[in-house]
Amino acid sequence: MQNFSKCSLAIYSLALTCLLFFGGCSSQFFDRNNLNSKQYAESDIQMVVTENKEATDIAIDILEAGGNAFDAAVATSFALSVVRPHSTGIGGGGFFLFKESGDINPQFLDAREKAPRKTQKNSLDQVSIKDSAHKGALVGVPGLTKGLEDIYKKYGSGKLSWSELIEPSIELANSGFPVYPHLSEAIKLATEKAGFSLEPKLIKKGYFINQELAQTLRAISEHGSAALHEGKIAKAIVKATRKHGGVLDENDLINYRAVSRKPASFPYKGFKIHTAPLPSSAGIVLGQILKLRDLQLSKLSNRNPSTELHLLAESMSMAFKERALKLGDPSFTLIDQYNLLSDSHIKKLGRKISLEETKMEKTLSEVEPLPTSTTHFSIIDREGNVVSSTQSINLYFGSGILAESTGIFLNNTLDDFSRPKNKANSFGLVGRNPNYPGPNKIPLSSMSPTIVTANGDPFLVLGSPGGPRIISAVAQTLINRLDYNLNLKDSVAQSRIHKQWQPPTLFLEKGGFPKEVIRSLSSRGQQIKESAYLVGNVSAIGVESNGKLIGVADPRRNGKASSRRPH
Ligand code: DON
Repeated sequence: MQNFSKCSLAIYSLALTCLLFFGGCSSQFFDRNNLNSKQYAESDIQMVVTENKEATDIAIDILEAGGNAFDAAVATSFALSVVRPHSTGIGGGGFFLFKESGDINPQFLDAREKAPRKTQKNSLDQVSIKDSAHKGALVGVPGLTKGLEDIYKKYGSGKLSWSELIEPSIELANSGFPVYPHLSEAIKLATEKAGFSLEPKLIKKGYFINQELAQTLRAISEHGSAALHEGKIAKAIVKATRKHGGVLDENDLINYRAVSRKPASFPYKGFKIHTAPLPSSAGIVLGQILKLRDLQLSKLSNRNPSTELHLLAESMSMAFKERALKLGDPSFTLIDQYNLLSDSHIKKLGRKISLEETKMEKTLSEVEPLPTSTTHFSIIDREGNVVSSTQSINLYFGSGILAESTGIFLNNTLDDFSRPKNKANSFGLVGRNPNYPGPNKIPLSSMSPTIVTANGDPFLVLGSPGGPRIISAVAQTLINRLDYNLNLKDSVAQSRIHKQWQPPTLFLEKGGFPKEVIRSLSSRGQQIKESAYLVGNVSAIGVESNGKLIGVADPRRNGKASSRRPH
């Protein structure tokens, strides 16, 4: 499908150098050289990659029952809502980037949370995620169920009913699933860092069981999204947020609509990258990182791993600075997205990047990054329909507010808004007016569901959790696969870096980089922090030139790639 002879010999040999150089140096946290049997799959037919075995198996069952990728996406989203209560759920929202078989270009549905209509510019100035009396103000109007209903109605195969797609998740919520390491770590960290306390009734004999969520899902299965956006459940959501100082009201829930948008698309190395547009910063930040890095590399006569990493870090920092200063919800601020990715603008930004030293920036935020929640899944079905979706309730267990008798953990996604005086959010991000809170406004996101096409055909489907680190994880997977021509497994597994302008720290995955490289980066002034918090957790599908599908669940965590239900 793709003519790899276009890659110059120099780039390819550099890729090999990088592979030997970084690949040989295993992280102490995961084995990047050996994916377990769940984390890798090949198929000529279909592929699902999610972060949880249960969610992947449910999606595969739907595909095998005659459903298409959209049916499977709906079913797996509900399943993830159950099995990843710390990461995502119907109390939150998400983005869907998808391509119908035969179409050249993907489409995009924004089902992200928005601010209640009574939110004001200064409403969140004094609110912290730990402040039980006010943290309800960080709860955005949930959007996931509306988005899923739209997807089902417009793109579902029609062979399976809405209820059939939800039934497996109802069963999962009722019977429960074993508390796995990431979930138990999330419970511990949320308790320590955000004053969260998990209701004891949710854990029985090592199983996470949420029977109230099962009842809520039953209501959604019988009455559609109206069961959540109107009536008893809506009232419980409103009551819970108000009890914690929120302003959400029933009209906010009734009036919520998911929004179709044009995906952000740009060319890269002979491919076309499609990703989330504003209000996600993905399109612009990812595009700027890749273009800035390319521009800097083109000026080099001698490429080596530390110089390349330095330039990547500087490109990231520059793009995240643009994000902080210029981006926000496009319905409220006119943002010239075309200009921000134009060659002339990239050249202007590129002139500020030095090969020899990092650009010194004042430290405006010092926040310790949080471990990753959120989730991403990728699906390709036998007809060639593709779904790439990232979904979230923001931090671990969102706001930590469980709406009474519903089993729903409510998000705290409005923490993604910026506040004046460089007050950082939970990811250390700062921002300006375009991303200040406002009524019905959507906070800026980093979620980056991505589809790469080659001549209009799917080539790569990917995304990740991780707050702002999502963009870095996706960018490096793309660079590994499309620039260095590494195979998909290595493209996902390679160690990653992250730099987001504020704080002006270069985060390296601990144990993932040789000492000489770290020394060389330090000598350029990079303030390095080797971090145990990994950069993202990619769920990816690649399409080989012979049409074979490769599924890779990132070895950083314990997801599952699969094409068939094991018999
Ligand atoms: O939309 C965003 O950028 C964030 N709310 C995503 C949150 C996330 O990935 C949490 N993980 N660290």
